[in-house]
Amino acid sequence: MNRNQRRQATKQQSKVSASEFLRQGGIAFNQGNLTKALNIFAKGVADNPADHDLKIALSRALAHVEFKSFNPAFKALILKCLKERGLNYQDLSKAWYSILLCDPAFKPVQALIEDKPYSVAALKNCIKDAYFLEGVSKLMIYDMRFEKALVTIAAEASTRAFEKAYASYCEYTESVFLDNPKPSAKIVIDSKINSLGLSDDVVSEKVRGHYEANPYPRWRYIHAQKPLRKALEDTQTYLVAGCGTGFGLCSTALKYPNRDITAFDISRTSLAYAKTKSEELGLKNISFYHADILNLKDLNQKFDIIECSGVLHHMDEVSLGWEALLEKLAPEGKMNIGLYSKTARYDINRARHLIAKSGLKPVHSDIKKAREMIFDLPEDNPARLVLSRHDFYSTSGCRDLLFHEQEIQITIPEIEKILRALNLCFDGFNTLPANIIQKYNTSYPDDPEGVNLKNWHDFELKNPDIFKGMYQFWCSRKQA
Ligand SMILES: C[S@@+](CC[C@H](N)C(=O)[O-])C[C@H]1O[C@@H](n2cnc3c(N)ncnc32)[C@H](O)[C@@H]1O
Repeated sequence: MNRNQRRQATKQQSKVSASEFLRQGGIAFNQGNLTKALNIFAKGVADNPADHDLKIALSRALAHVEFKSFNPAFKALILKCLKERGLNYQDLSKAWYSILLCDPAFKPVQALIEDKPYSVAALKNCIKDAYFLEGVSKLMIYDMRFEKALVTIAAEASTRAFEKAYASYCEYTESVFLDNPKPSAKIVIDSKINSLGLSDDVVSEKVRGHYEANPYPRWRYIHAQKPLRKALEDTQTYLVAGCGTGFGLCSTALKYPNRDITAFDISRTSLAYAKTKSEELGLKNISFYHADILNLKDLNQKFDIIECSGVLHHMDEVSLGWEALLEKLAPEGKMNIGLYSKTARYDINRARHLIAKSGLKPVHSDIKKAREMIFDLPEDNPARLVLSRHDFYSTSGCRDLLFHEQEIQITIPEIEKILRALNLCFDGFNTLPANIIQKYNTSYPDDPEGVNLKNWHDFELKNPDIFKGMYQFWCSRKQA
């Protein structure tokens, strides 16, 4: 070996592997140390530019970041991620936008967003930037001022490349901010999906109508991650009850390709969306059914895991749907349940109240009016907090968020009551940072049955936004 080869070999040995970056960054992320995690993943991507999983990890960390000053290194990394296939680009939305707002290269766009004077020629020049065009064509931005800026650019400074990116933006958001939206691509119902029969429940029928007309969420992207070795060995049977348009379903199917997954929903349009997406992703381990939770007598199987997220709170009674699903759970099986928190949806209730008072209906023109009415409220009006909700930025999302005909909001003591009535143990929340989970899950001095959720209730009262997404938790039968 000559000196050059030796130097090369030492360099190779000292190079940290992609999996080590993933491991170390993952630990920092789970400990709540976002800055450290970001730096580890960023270095990992720079050192291993071909590694896809590191870009997923970086995007997931960036989902929690808003830059306050211009950071050229992260600008380059975000653009790299936007150009990589198989990422959920939406995770990059906030970081992308925060950089746009402080990058000197985008001063004319910033002026437009902030309603300050700008020059059309300078605007035309800066919107040629690949960072801008990639972002507009792939992301949904959570700021109505940005939508208004796009409308102005389209009218005053458009270019061929911008037109294409803007058309994609309009399609993604279903033109929620435009008076005359282009109709969304038609979702064709798949008659090959077998029906297990519906029920005669009046609320089920009303909710079916809502989701036939308004399948939600209309997701575009997902992280196509390589399954871990341990996940490949997982052959548990899995039921997704109320799979909707299939985002959670497809994530699970990608992560656990050897799980045998059954998915059903009451809305055929949502099922068609989910099936099309699963086919695009090449997934082979899902069987789809058209069914109602309240009529599963023809589903002749018990499942190791049942997931039911964002569904039971759209039924007449949460506990009735939950109990029906329990009949399909294997004796030692686990359930993952997602329910809306009454505490965390305070802003939504205030906004809904205003919408109802104004007589607005769940149609595109009124959804647009409702958004503008909320945007124009004084800064300190609590209803205005819905502007921070991601669903506010697409037509179907906004309809689900602010115009739902049937939504039950629940509290932690009410969840505890149902768990006790159904003889279930609470096995922990699963969407909170690991450091919080560890702290609160282990402190149950008076909890011989594993159902006392008082600590969590107190925690939520002190942190009313903590379950802004949903209560998402595991439970299982009490074992004798
Ligand atoms: C908000 S979406 C959630 C979809 C999916 N679980 C997710 O997390 O993206 C609620 C879904 O529940 C379905 N749903 C509501 N009531 C149902 C019932 N009784 N039986 C089956 N599905 C139901 C709706 O059709 C809708 O697709």
